[in-house]
Amino acid sequence: MKETQEILDFCAKHGITADAEQKSGGEAPTATATMSSATITALLLLALVALCNNVKQKLCHKTIKNKHNPLPLPPGPTPWPVVGSARAILHKKPMFRWIHHLMKEMNTEIACIRLGSTHVIPVTSPTIAQEFLRKQDSDFASRPVTMASGILSSGYLTAALSPYGEQWKKMRRVLVSEVVCPARHKWLHDKRAGEADNLVKYVFNLCKTSAHQVNLRTVTRHYSGNVTRRMMFNEIFWQDGGPTIDEEQHVDAIFNALYYLYAFCVSNYFPFLVGLDLDGHKKEVQESLRTLRRLHEPIISERIKQWRDDLSLECNEKEPQDLLDVLIMLKDSQGKPLLTPQEVRAQTMEIMMAAVDNPSNAVEWAMAEMINQPELLHKATEEIDRVVGKERLVQESDIPQLNYIKACAREAFRLHPVAPFNVPLVALSDTVVAGHRIPKGSHILLSRVGLGRNPKIWDEPLKFKPDRHIMSDKAEVALTEPDLRFISFSTGRRGCIAAALGTTMTVMLLARLIQGFSWSKPSNLSSINLAEGRNDLFLAKPLVAQAELRLPSHLYLA
Ligand code: HEM
Repeated sequence: MKETQEILDFCAKHGITADAEQKSGGEAPTATATMSSATITALLLLALVALCNNVKQKLCHKTIKNKHNPLPLPPGPTPWPVVGSARAILHKKPMFRWIHHLMKEMNTEIACIRLGSTHVIPVTSPTIAQEFLRKQDSDFASRPVTMASGILSSGYLTAALSPYGEQWKKMRRVLVSEVVCPARHKWLHDKRAGEADNLVKYVFNLCKTSAHQVNLRTVTRHYSGNVTRRMMFNEIFWQDGGPTIDEEQHVDAIFNALYYLYAFCVSNYFPFLVGLDLDGHKKEVQESLRTLRRLHEPIISERIKQWRDDLSLECNEKEPQDLLDVLIMLKDSQGKPLLTPQEVRAQTMEIMMAAVDNPSNAVEWAMAEMINQPELLHKATEEIDRVVGKERLVQESDIPQLNYIKACAREAFRLHPVAPFNVPLVALSDTVVAGHRIPKGSHILLSRVGLGRNPKIWDEPLKFKPDRHIMSDKAEVALTEPDLRFISFSTGRRGCIAAALGTTMTVMLLARLIQGFSWSKPSNLSSINLAEGRNDLFLAKPLVAQAELRLPSHLYLA
């Protein structure tokens, strides 16, 4: 109950309601326009509120330490009174690089960085990560309440972003039993297969029109967007001509929203500053939300009207065609709609955001690494030719036999995760992990880069070596990693519910690209530049590669 009240308070402070985002669009002053007066006001407010926080925190701290648990917090930078290390949010950009650098300097695999009154706990050791998500996952089954997650989930109506509570349980149950269950996966097969066919057709056409130079970032992102849109909305996207402007804007809005979703935003640690939008994050999130709403809303409201308002027999006898129909048609025990229109809208948007970035990023990186090591591409191609041949295209039913392709995708998840940290978890009570005190409310950040590139776990951690995942000829390779030696789908109560769908999307994308085309670096380059972006973990420059057809023409056009 207390958590619910905290969320309500937070939403009220941020002006978040199920439909408030549209109304508030454009109200927030821009960072540049308000910076000078805003900074002064902010500093005054900061000092005052922080003083209160500090007193409160000192009192709490004393209680925990004296009465219950004398253990130390994980090591970290000495926090300033009141604000902790919050100055770093503005001065140490990007924060994730600063945090990893700090942990390396301190030679620690768990740290504590206090931002305002929040303890942020990054972790780079699988053993410690397992303590959080395997031994004590019920203590860490919540998510933080933040500016962006509140806005993007329409006030915490959805499964992935909601803090622990009844709404999270309801929506997670709906997804597990109705959206990603094995029967639904089978039901959606033909839609995914249709988009896998569109993928090879599109690259085939690019070979003809772009002198065989293919931008694999565009291809991978739009394939992932199209598969998800097709399952969600049953619309056919991305015919031979490539993505439309709306589709481009859709994918861009998803990536932009995800970039800001759990970014280190000042107002997440000092919520009273949210209106000032000092770092401009709120404006960005609202902009992405506006685009997503513009593109989703006409389809969703038409469908709700169709299923709920048109009570003619004919309509009631119609079968659902896609996931949107499924969400709208769910009934509770009294035969009433299980989800409100706001829940349908918010959950639809969350599914779109959950499904696009991981498969596309993994495959873009895998292709870049493999083009630089052609012997790996050769081995992967040989596997497909052996398992599938050259007379038909790879199908989902081939996936269990494609161990080497899966090892390549798995290696991309290990070495090149899409985000530096796992989706944050929140401690529901004071507890102890790895001999350290973890106060209630701490934000736990399992480091995807820290785990996947940990030199104590991985030999030559920075080298792309898919063979490290092949244990024997017989053992099937999976993309899941429940031991948390890296994070793909994570584990525990808040772990990803869609490992089967995520694996299918990723492996089909990689396998079709490798089966359909011979890939090499553009002739003007000595190799693909594998540098990461400064502010994120994507390839710094979108991957552009040379593609040659390797199958009979009729297969591309099927
Ligand atoms: C390759 C694709 C995907 C990867 C690698 C992936 C990875 C993840 C990760 C790392 C988490 C956070 C787990 C944690 O907090 O410990 C997560 C959560 C989640 N994912 Fe996925 N995901 C993928 C695709 C999908 C898809 C397609 C869906 C939806 C249909 C989905 C739905 C969710 C949901 C609902 C959660 C939150 C669960 C909760 O908080 O209770 N994911 N995913």
